[in-house]
Amino acid sequence: MSVLDAIMGRRNIKAFKPDAISEQHVQSWLTAASYAPNHRMTEPWRVLIVGPETRGLLKHKTDFGGAPVVIAILSKSGATTLERDENVMATACFMQNFMLAAQEAGVGTFWSSLGAAAHNREILGAAESEDVIGVFGIGYPAEIPALKPRTPIEDKITSLP
Ligand SMILES: Cc1cc2nc3c(=O)[nH]c(=O)nc-3n(C[C@H](O)[C@H](O)[C@H](O)COP(=O)(O)O)c2cc1C
Repeated sequence: MSVLDAIMGRRNIKAFKPDAISEQHVQSWLTAASYAPNHRMTEPWRVLIVGPETRGLLKHKTDFGGAPVVIAILSKSGATTLERDENVMATACFMQNFMLAAQEAGVGTFWSSLGAAAHNREILGAAESEDVIGVFGIGYPAEIPALKPRTPIEDKITSLP
């Protein structure tokens, strides 16, 4: 699969098959994710593999679409606002890398932002110095949602003199 096919074919998956995903595969996508750009090599990400007990406490409304694997992705905040922003951006790149690497294997991801809520941060054990950027449900899609059309990119481009 080309990178472009992975980008264009990825969807936010809301319903998964129960088929297991091997830890080794998840590990390999996380390794790919870690090649994300990150300013000053802060490597700000931290990944929590969310086990069944913690997952239950998160009380997600669809239990992450029945995904067999759930992970949470955290980003360490920096000494300055700029460093924190850059770390969040780097972690978002990490997450996109992960999604595309999984996509290549036909595995989908469901991005939930519930981890940012104070009580869920506590359940996850996020430190005060960490932002919870997202919680991913990961698995083989049971349903692939239709493409959500994007605004033509020409409408978002301004040429400067
Ligand atoms: C920062 C961020 C937070 C998101 N949080 C949620 C969420 O809490 N629940 C959800 O269903 N989707 C969430 N999404 C996924 C978007 O809703 C989804 O990407 C968007 O609808 C476009 O659909 P697509 O990814 O299938 O192209 C999030 C995406 C991002 C980048």
